[in-house]
Amino acid sequence: MSVIIAPSILSCDFGNLERDFHLVNDSQADWFHVDVMDGVFVPNISFGFPIIQALKKVANKVIDCHIMIVNPDQYITDFAKAGVDILTVHYEACTHLDRTIAAIQEAGMKAGVALNPHTPVSVLEHVIAKLDLVLIMSVNPGFGGQKFIPEAIEKVKQTKALIAQKGSKALVEVDGGVNLETGKLLVDAGADALVAGSFVFGSADPKATIASLKQL
Ligand code: DX5
Ligand code: ZN
Repeated sequence: MSVIIAPSILSCDFGNLERDFHLVNDSQADWFHVDVMDGVFVPNISFGFPIIQALKKVANKVIDCHIMIVNPDQYITDFAKAGVDILTVHYEACTHLDRTIAAIQEAGMKAGVALNPHTPVSVLEHVIAKLDLVLIMSVNPGFGGQKFIPEAIEKVKQTKALIAQKGSKALVEVDGGVNLETGKLLVDAGADALVAGSFVFGSADPKATIASLKQL
């Protein structure tokens, strides 16, 4: 199966959001990656439900929502109502992660867990069998356009091994600093899905850039 490509709308032109949503619709991308930041868990504020609802109206692809917020449990049903398909919370923001995963799935969404660059894969050992997705952060979350942290490659391999060992069906997605060079290393390591923001929307021809990532 070819790698899943998830352009991050954080790098869209916010004055031309609908145009950029259609661009992704008409491309070979598989998912919309939606980064919600609260200014507390990460040192940046992005956007919230009105943008997700606007995206849902036009999107013809899966909405993959990565929430970088404290107290994610408080908003799970709101994300479901807004039309999110996959909801990924941060391991570092969840005291009762097993309960949070169950609540996401009970709300009708697929459940993902993101790991910050310093967080070892082994923390997922006892929940991996229940997960739909693991998001390996290859930058410190909060901003687009940062430099790829190569340690993520080894973490992808470790996550794939844990998934196989526990009989999990979880996909492995990687987020941050993805381009053709880092993307190739990640696909070779076993990544199932790649997020790309600035590399796609900062390029002269985003649709062609998505198509080239899809070839990895
Ligand atoms: C960072 C976000 C990423 C970001 C990726 O906190 O989670 O999804 O949009 O941007 P690039 O691809 O530019 O590193
Ligand atoms: Zn993200």
